[in-house]
Amino acid sequence: ELHRVPRPPYRLPLLGDVVGAGRRAPMQDSLRYARRLGPIFRRRAFGKEIVFVWGAGLAADLADEARFAKHVGVGVANLRPVVRDGLFTAYNHEPNWQLAHDVLAPGFSREAMAGYHVMMLDVAGRLTDHWDRARAADRAVDVPGDMTRLTLETIARTGFGHDFGSFERSRLHPFVTAMIGTLTYAQRLNTVPAPLAPWLLRGASRRNTADIAYLDRTVDDLVRARRTAGGRGGEGDLLDRMLDTAHPETGERLSAENIRRQVITFLVAGHETTSGALSFALHYLSRHPDVAARARAEVDRVWGHTKAPGYEQVAKLRYVRRVLDESLRLWPTAPAFAREARADTVLDGTHPMRRGAWALVLTGMLHRDPEVWGPEAERFDPDHFDAKAVRSRAPHTFKPFGTGARACIGRQFALHEATLVLGLLLRRYELLPEPDYRLRVTERLTLMPEGLRLRLGRRTTTG
Ligand code: HEM
Repeated sequence: ELHRVPRPPYRLPLLGDVVGAGRRAPMQDSLRYARRLGPIFRRRAFGKEIVFVWGAGLAADLADEARFAKHVGVGVANLRPVVRDGLFTAYNHEPNWQLAHDVLAPGFSREAMAGYHVMMLDVAGRLTDHWDRARAADRAVDVPGDMTRLTLETIARTGFGHDFGSFERSRLHPFVTAMIGTLTYAQRLNTVPAPLAPWLLRGASRRNTADIAYLDRTVDDLVRARRTAGGRGGEGDLLDRMLDTAHPETGERLSAENIRRQVITFLVAGHETTSGALSFALHYLSRHPDVAARARAEVDRVWGHTKAPGYEQVAKLRYVRRVLDESLRLWPTAPAFAREARADTVLDGTHPMRRGAWALVLTGMLHRDPEVWGPEAERFDPDHFDAKAVRSRAPHTFKPFGTGARACIGRQFALHEATLVLGLLLRRYELLPEPDYRLRVTERLTLMPEGLRLRLGRRTTTG
């Protein structure tokens, strides 16, 4: 079985392949191994053997829902103390997954999305006010920081009617600091032997407990405020659905404890990865003025002089959307997902897997496979997503949102929000890079460009 899967040649008895590896950059590290070892390989870390898969054929086979399902393991399982059986971290067999999925899915329908659009525009207006002030003062903007402010406010406002006041604070909201703390801690748990974790991460574990308590408190306050105020009336948002909606068939409702886990899940999953995706896209736009010009021309053409683009006008930004897809191709901000065998099977006709055996799909490498993306796979070029290229590409080769029943429930939400915001920013600013910035990527389970700052210029032409 596994002995046929290539692995790195050198091993130390306890530390495994992690030694010398960027313990803080496991995913970028795995990309280096992937290039050396091929489309399927394994790495051992502290008694755990992880099989990585990135070849297109193998990844497509793992997408077969009849034989494989989501595996809650490695990084995702480390988040269980924070969000337990919330939608993202629930085991497939836990009843709260189906219940919450069915209750919340209508919150992501087309009609619901059209309702969020106006709130998204409003939050984007707070970002552009903030950026206008920076431009007037000739100050560079902190891109990941401001994208995090934007996406946190967007999910808090649309999903929960809550305002964190992110743009009125010079530092990130403590909710974000606590969240980053728990994500970083979950990632670090993968880099030490489990039995030694209580000692090696003693200080960090205490901080983590405090971070979780802070997240819980924030969410409890938010839920209490809503219960006191009663529902929001009308269509209702995600929180109303959690509090008031019974399952359409079974009549069951989410428990108070589960609602707590869902609210944290959505506040975190609903902003962190979108923030990274927007940040990478802005980095590439600043580095590729030709792409920015083409995207800007599209915004001018499609939106004209309308001050507030309507819901329908966002999906019409086809090229802006390709910029976003291309950024998610090179840096899928949720960089991997795990799949397990539902029963004994043979992966891609070659690798036998027992029931429950699992592999990690290394999305970032799947997205750079030259056999799929051609010799220019490493280059940023939104034309990788032009209609002809998309038609001729094999299925399951672009997977930034995961796959199957457990794929991202917020995909349309994220794409709408990010396309809208890129359109608004392109229309308003020239995005000027800092000349000596080199892209560095921080990892805390998710990916984010580190230290990215941009200067904002005035539009030289207006459409
Ligand atoms: C699941 C990526 C935005 C909520 C996932 C998964 C991926 C992903 C890869 C599957 C994980 C796995 O298989 O283990 C992304 C990316 C985003 C994004 C790259 C932005 C660019 C959002 C937003 C929301 C959200 C905006 C909510 C508003 C969720 C939830 C799940 C999920 C709740 C778990 C779904 C389930 O298991 O039923 N996401 N996501 N995500 N995402 Fe997203």
